Amino acid sequence: MSKPTEPTSPFDLAGKTALVTGGSGYLGLAFCNSLAAAGARVVVGSRSESRAQQVADALQNRSGVEHLGVALDYRDDQAIEQGFSDAISRAGAIDVLVNNGHILDARDWTTVDGPGFDQQMRNATGYFLLARLFRDAAVAKQMPGSIVMLGSMYGRVASYPEVYDGIGPASSVAYQCLKGGVAQMVRHLSVYWAKDRIRVNALSPGPFPNPEGAPAELVARLEQKSPMGRIGRAEEIGGPLVFLCSDASSYVTGHNLMVDGGWTAW
Ligand SMILES: NC(=O)c1ccc[n+]([C@@H]2O[C@H](COP(=O)([O-])OP(=O)(O)OC[C@H]3O[C@@H](n4cnc5c(N)ncnc54)[C@H](OP(=O)(O)O)[C@@H]3O)[C@@H](O)[C@H]2O)c1
Repeated sequence: MSKPTEPTSPFDLAGKTALVTGGSGYLGLAFCNSLAAAGARVVVGSRSESRAQQVADALQNRSGVEHLGVALDYRDDQAIEQGFSDAISRAGAIDVLVNNGHILDARDWTTVDGPGFDQQMRNATGYFLLARLFRDAAVAKQMPGSIVMLGSMYGRVASYPEVYDGIGPASSVAYQCLKGGVAQMVRHLSVYWAKDRIRVNALSPGPFPNPEGAPAELVARLEQKSPMGRIGRAEEIGGPLVFLCSDASSYVTGHNLMVDGGWTAW
């Protein structure tokens, strides 16, 4: 019989450590839960170390390893370096990076200002700087790695104006610019880092509004536009993430996996 830390299926993440930024968020928590259920040790990133540790402590412990929480903030280069260095020094090595955290700005094309637009772009800068630190550390240890960056269906298609009309601001133009850019960054880095055995993929959710904050009318309109007739449930995003993080996707790189109930297939 195999030991619990030995992988038993290509989807098994036993023996692997995954750093997930924004792990306290709506989808971030679902990602952390799925990775822990697949056997990974999870290092939860948050702007607040205590919030990160709280999330880590509540995760299931399938492989008998301790999950960890670290402070990591995309707004500041130093904070990114410090957060990654803490993660490495506490975990030893990191096999998987999930660039999921997001600096939010709900302003649309009618109201966003220059600094607000720039700050949305800063999410891409943060994703890149952290990914490069991860790549450099893996190469130094001569180990392979998998990076997943969160895109969006709105990095591939435009939003329907009428979905938001009369409810609130439209989907942000800066956000759509960002997420289209993330998908292209993934293609670029996947090519440069393939020989280093670092796979780089995007995971692009469709409509997964947080049930705690989304107006019912908005949800109803999103459901109407979805081929599957419903919004995504947070637990439905974890399986595709585990696929991209694990050996099940060992020949997949530079890909942008849409998890959108068919939204972008219309
Ligand atoms: N939900 C959807 O429908 C949907 C659709 C398409 C794409 N996405 C993408 O999926 C990802 C997660 O979305 P979500 O819905 O789970 O959002 P969320 O609930 O708002 O979570 C985002 C998390 O990002 C973290 N964060 C905020 N500012 C940060 C910063 N400066 N540096 C690092 N982390 C920061 C926050 O955690 P702390 O406060 O603990 O730092 C927050 O919990 C995002 O990249 C989003 O664009 C979501």
